[in-house]
Amino acid sequence: MSVQPQIPSRTQVAIIGGGPSGLLLGQLLHKAGIDNIVLERQSGEYVLGRIRAGVLEQVTMDLLDECGVGERMHREGLVHTGFEMMFDGQRHRIDMHRLTGGKKVMVYGQTELTRDLMEARQASGQLTVYQAEEVSVHDYDTAQPRVRFMHEGRSHELACDFIAGCDGFHGVCRASVPRGAITEFEKVYPFGWLGLLADTPPVSDELIYINSPRGFSLCSQRSRSRSRYYLQVPLTDKIEAWSDEAFWAELRLRLDEEGRERLVTGPSIEKSIAPLRSFVTEPLRFGRMFLAGDAGHIVPPTGAKGLNLAATDVKYLSQALIEYFQERSEAGIDHYSARCLRRIWRAERFSWWFTTLMHRFPGNGPIDAKFQEAEIDYLLHSEAGARTIAENYVGLPLDFGA
Ligand code: APR
Ligand code: PHB
Repeated sequence: MSVQPQIPSRTQVAIIGGGPSGLLLGQLLHKAGIDNIVLERQSGEYVLGRIRAGVLEQVTMDLLDECGVGERMHREGLVHTGFEMMFDGQRHRIDMHRLTGGKKVMVYGQTELTRDLMEARQASGQLTVYQAEEVSVHDYDTAQPRVRFMHEGRSHELACDFIAGCDGFHGVCRASVPRGAITEFEKVYPFGWLGLLADTPPVSDELIYINSPRGFSLCSQRSRSRSRYYLQVPLTDKIEAWSDEAFWAELRLRLDEEGRERLVTGPSIEKSIAPLRSFVTEPLRFGRMFLAGDAGHIVPPTGAKGLNLAATDVKYLSQALIEYFQERSEAGIDHYSARCLRRIWRAERFSWWFTTLMHRFPGNGPIDAKFQEAEIDYLLHSEAGARTIAENYVGLPLDFGA
């Protein structure tokens, strides 16, 4: 049985949330000798049980390497140099590698990445308090922020220099900011994604994004023997009403002939419906508290930008904090919000646009489908058009066009 170390009363950075953002930040700070504690509401098993996307941009791969946790990703992850888009039963390949001068993405599940980060954190002896309840943030507009929480029936107070709000969309940090100090931009889409995970070989070596008259569908994967598929469904659909058989039957109807022939079905390991949302908070800094990852922004999953955006927020935040502690310079923390937001809005725009291009919107008529068809036809038959998609999909470099 592992013995939980005593919870101290002070740390340099209190990280709220032990998802990918919090764990990655903790690792980057630790590498720079900055002391931090992660407070996570759930148990470690619960965090690992959440199924999320699994496409990593180069920037994210580089960050994992920098943290010293990239080894398994390089060994087990699948390098993808292109993906397919299907419209009107026709497939078109986006050759990311050729169109972007050699860039690629890595298919590696968020669950695996989170597990690697958890193990690295544990090995380095840094403290994560799981099942930290009633977390509340205080005095972050002063030089002595504090975090209070309950753990195993006892109340704790943690003094710190900075609070990192890595606590996701439903977290406490953003919710604690006075309404007058924050602007929230939001669009909720009129459909959801029904996802199914199965231990079956993927229908194709590459991902296929499908715009079919029956709605959007995505053929994705976690490994050569584990598939992840999605169907666009009305928001009113209930997960209980979707049997595995019904899922596979609907997916078949949205695939082309080749896909139907190659599709291998099997029992689901996980099945859930997720809503789609575009959401951005401005600013991302409130005195000595920062928001990073899903706490500050949500993208619809079309294009798999969520985790990658979180990773770059965290990179910028770690740079800013390292600069503060090592050089006593506040330039980085002053610039954090604007630096992140510029990249965030670019990814938000792409995710919104890709969602709009590939889904069937309720209330839209035949002319809207024709507009989509013409746009896809243009994009895929124009070098510039295809490059625009590829460039956005592989992700912007960390320091783009200053
Ligand atoms: N106290 C402590 N922890 C909290 C609290 C709270 N009040 N509220 C939420 N949390 C925890 C959640 O339990 C969760 O483990 O914060 C964590 C936030 O993790 P994620 O939701 O995964 O968010 P993040 O770490 O920013 O991950 C980036 O981008 O688009 C997504 O799929 C992508 O999930 C990925 C995310
Ligand atoms: C996934 O594999 O879960 C996935 C992949 C690509 C996306 C979204 C989700 O755009």
